[in-house]
This record gives sequence, structure tokens and C-alpha cells, in this order.
Amino acid sequence: MFVLNTWYVAAWSTEVTRKPVRRVVCKQPLVLYRTQDGAAVALADRCAHRAYPLSAGRTVGDSVECGYHGFAYGPDGVCTRVPAQAAIPARARVRRYPVVEKDGWIWVWTGDEDLADESLVPDTHWMNDPAWATVTHTMLFECRHDLIHDNLLDLTHETFLHKTTVGDDYIPEYGITVEVDGNVVTVDRLMPGVEAPPLYARTMGTEGLYDRFHATEFHIPSYHVLHSGITAQGRPREEGHLIKVLNGITPVDERTTWYYYAFSRNFAVDAEWATKELETGLETVLREDADALREQEIGMRERPDGEHDVLIGQDAGVARARRILNQLLAAEQAAARPAQG
Ligand code: FES
Ligand SMILES: [Fe+2]
Repeated sequence: MFVLNTWYVAAWSTEVTRKPVRRVVCKQPLVLYRTQDGAAVALADRCAHRAYPLSAGRTVGDSVECGYHGFAYGPDGVCTRVPAQAAIPARARVRRYPVVEKDGWIWVWTGDEDLADESLVPDTHWMNDPAWATVTHTMLFECRHDLIHDNLLDLTHETFLHKTTVGDDYIPEYGITVEVDGNVVTVDRLMPGVEAPPLYARTMGTEGLYDRFHATEFHIPSYHVLHSGITAQGRPREEGHLIKVLNGITPVDERTTWYYYAFSRNFAVDAEWATKELETGLETVLREDADALREQEIGMRERPDGEHDVLIGQDAGVARARRILNQLLAAEQAAARPAQG
């Protein structure tokens, strides 16, 4: 079960072209394409005629044409042409999904169209700001989306899972502060007077001791921005070498999740070698997470009923986020239930 009244990342802008492409978001198959003037469109990827996937067809003008018997659908999902007859049946239409394209991401609203509010699309401006340089990755995780949220909210795992890249022994020694603002949970950890993580130190051009910090800001249920970096000891964070890790977490189904990852930095912005080094290093980090969460998913499925997580102090953010996610799910289900009596 997924929260549907929200924006999910469905693709990178570069992946959506005039050639239709399929993406499954929260078990809903979508076809994505662009109209002649470049606007991104998302429709249900199932022809109204005989359920053939529209993503196997082609674009004709601003419409997508089914590759089986040629029904054509406009950007609003309404059938505009039935090659075999002049009359177009009234039921010949497919669902259209609200789309927002911003900073290189394509967001779709999977729930009630009337509730789609563009102002709720998260801030990702760093990807578009010349003062920052960005590296991106996309990975299909073989786990439920909750495990990725927990992973991002408890970064003590870096010490053990990411030893060669962003893990340092000292991380779990520092406590966290948790803040909740509506549907946003922030978990902040400050690590004063420590060395920069191995993956970053070279590209940052730093040596010696700094104040390191990372704050995970989870916009429940689909997006995290990690405010991370190092600054001179005792100095404000804004003065430091800063990183914004943007994470679009998009469920495919109960055991598969797309991970759209962008890493923006305000240091070595024009250094091609730094971009290359980070690209490789960050892929390692993501792969380590993907491998671990695949194994954890197996563990979750093997776990007998009645056996539950043992949460500790460092899981305070995880616990708060879970509660909010469950509340959102319950509210949507209650609203979807027909009124009694
Ligand atoms: S299934 Fe699409 S036109 Fe027949
Ligand atoms: Fe990780």
C-alpha cells in the first residue's frame, strides 16, 4: 500500500522524449512522452481498446498511437482517432496523470487529480544552479521503499556499509536531533573536530580536522534531501564545503523501488576529474546500499509474524517518520472508503 496523493519522481527529463517510455509508479503503469512543443505527458500505459501497452506504440503529433490497432490518445487521455471507424466510443479514454517538470526531474501525481498541487513539488534548485555541480545515478532497488527511507534516516550505517567511501568509525558516537514539521522529518547529526570522509577529502582539497554534519530531511513519503558537508571548526555550516544529496524514492511495487539520486556540491565545481571521481565513488555507495537492502528485504520476508524491529535511540527519526507515513496511509484509505449509512 502506498500514499498516492503526492508527487513521485517518474523519470529524469532526459529520459522522456518523443518516443514513448514505460514506468511503473506505485503499481500503476505509465507511458511518458513529449508533445511537439516539448511538454511532458503521463498517461495510463494501457490502451482502452484491448489493454495493449501504449508505450509500445509511437507518437503522432501530440498524441500517442497504440501499436496494436492504432487508437490515438491526446495529452488529456481522450481518444482522438479510431482507424477502423469514424465514431469514437465515449469510453475510449485512458487516465491522465498530472506532471511537473523541474530541474531535470519529471514528477507525477499518482492520487486524486483535484488534489495535485504544484507548490508541493520539493525544492531541487541546486541541480540548476551554476554555483553547484551535480552527479546523478538511477538504480532499481530490490526492496520495499520503507527500507530506503530507514536507511537515509539512520546514517550510522555509513560506518559499516560504506567503509571505503563515506564511512568513518566515529559516526555512531554522535547523537542526533530530530525535528518534525508537518510531513517533513529532519534528523541532524553534528560531528565536531573530525576528518572529512575519504571519498570527499580529495575532491574538497582538505586536510586536518573539521566540523562534519549531515541532516536528512525526509519529505514523506517520496523524497529526501541530505544537507551534508564540512566546515572549519566552530564556523557556520553555510561557509563550508557543502553537499546536497537529493533522493527521489519511487515504489514500483511491494518489493521493488526506483532510486533517483542526485549529488550536488559547491566545491570543485568546474573540476572534471572531481566529477568523475565522485561519479564512480557514489555509484559504489549506492550499490552497497542496494546490495544490503536486498538482503534486508529477504530478512524481512523470512521474519516470523510477531517478531519486530528493536529500535534504539539513533532510530528516533525512523520511528517518527513511520508514524507519519502510517497516518497518511490511514487517512487516504479512510477517505477512499465509501461513506457508511
Ligand atoms: S489494443 Fe490498442 S488499439 Fe487495440
Ligand atoms: Fe548508505
